[in-house]
Amino acid sequence: MTASRRPIYVLNGPNLNLLGTRRPEVYGTTTLADIEEAVRARAAAGGWDVVFHQSNHEGVLVDRIQEARTAAAAIVINPAAFTHYSIAIHDALEAAELPVVEVHLSNVHRREPFRHTSYVSLQADAVIAGAGAFGYELAVEHLLRTLEG
Ligand code: DQA
Repeated sequence: MTASRRPIYVLNGPNLNLLGTRRPEVYGTTTLADIEEAVRARAAAGGWDVVFHQSNHEGVLVDRIQEARTAAAAIVINPAAFTHYSIAIHDALEAAELPVVEVHLSNVHRREPFRHTSYVSLQADAVIAGAGAFGYELAVEHLLRTLEG
C-alpha cells in the first residue's frame, strides 16, 4: 500500500448501531461491529484503509462527508432512513465529488413505498440493496476495482 493512499470512508446512518437485534428478519443477525471487521479485512487485502463511522444524526453524517471530501478516496454509505428524505446528505455527496456506493441491507424496493425513493442514489455510482451485510463487502470490492482500474 502506498503511504499516500487515502482511506475508504464507510458511513452508516440512524439505527444501524442496533443491527443484530433490530428486526433480524429484515436486517439479519450480523452486528455493525461484524460488518466493520469484514469490510476492514476486505479492504486491507487490497491494501486500503477504512474509516468506519455510524451516527444517528444527519448533521454528523454531513460533517463526515465534508471531511471525506479531502480525506477519502471514496465513500460507501448506508444512510438508513436519511436515504429517503435527506437533501443535506445528497448535497454533501454532490460536493464531495468522490466515487460513492450506496448500500442497503434490505431490498428497499420490495418494502414500503416510502423506501422506494432515494435522494442518495442521484449521487451514487453504484447501489447495492438486498444482499444483507455482504452488500458492504460487495461495495468495497467494487471500489477496489474502480479505484485501481
Ligand atoms: C436500510 C433501509 C432503510 O429504508 C431503513 O430506514 C434503514 C436501513 C437498509 O439497510 O436496508 O434503516 O438502509
